[in-house]
Amino acid sequence: MAKRNPDLRAVVAPSPVIIAAAYDENGKADGCTLALYTPISHRPPCVLIGINVTMRPRKTLGSILHSGAFTIGYPGEDQVTEADYIGVASGFDTDKLKDVGFTVSEGQAVHAPVINELRLTLECEVVHTVTVGSNIQITGEIKNILADEEILDGKGRVVLERLKPLIYDEEGFAYRHAGEPFAEPFRTGTEFMKQLEK
Ligand SMILES: Cc1cc2nc3c(=O)[nH]c(=O)nc-3n(C[C@H](O)[C@H](O)[C@H](O)COP(=O)(O)O)c2cc1C
Repeated sequence: MAKRNPDLRAVVAPSPVIIAAAYDENGKADGCTLALYTPISHRPPCVLIGINVTMRPRKTLGSILHSGAFTIGYPGEDQVTEADYIGVASGFDTDKLKDVGFTVSEGQAVHAPVINELRLTLECEVVHTVTVGSNIQITGEIKNILADEEILDGKGRVVLERLKPLIYDEEGFAYRHAGEPFAEPFRTGTEFMKQLEK
């Protein structure tokens, strides 16, 4: 198959869409939608978010850096309008969370706002920041997880079919469904390894 060289860019497809939220210096809750987000460590559990500092300023970035804490909330497919609005409007201009009817509670483990209407929230403490190109990359250590009972199985695992996270496809410029399971991780490769050993 012939290879081509598409334009250089960070290909971030697909990626879950989350809403990062933090208190500003006046105690007002800010939130912005992010696709530059990934789990980065199991022990301690940490996540990375990337916030752009070369384009239009993000109010939420200042709030995260000021308070040293933030939450990561997962909007569901039924909250796509709210999530997209929070990703196009700015807290510099309006109270976005109020505009969409979201309410907040104080985090149980960190001083950061938990958006009550989101079914899964990670409460994070800022443990590291570094500038990477156009973005500030923030590492948050997860100090607490808040999940609606309805999205969990009996063992406390998040059931994707119940969470219905929004998947951002930057290449196709679309929000997508999370998709059906089709193979078992670690077992698929282990089975192949056994075949090679025969
Ligand atoms: C689907 C989606 C994904 C986004 N991902 C990011 C991201 O990863 N990093 C970023 O800096 N901005 C991202 N944005 C843009 C911010 O959410 C947007 O600039 C927002 O208005 C900032 O709000 P604030 O000023 O209230 O913080 C995204 C927007 C959308 C709609």
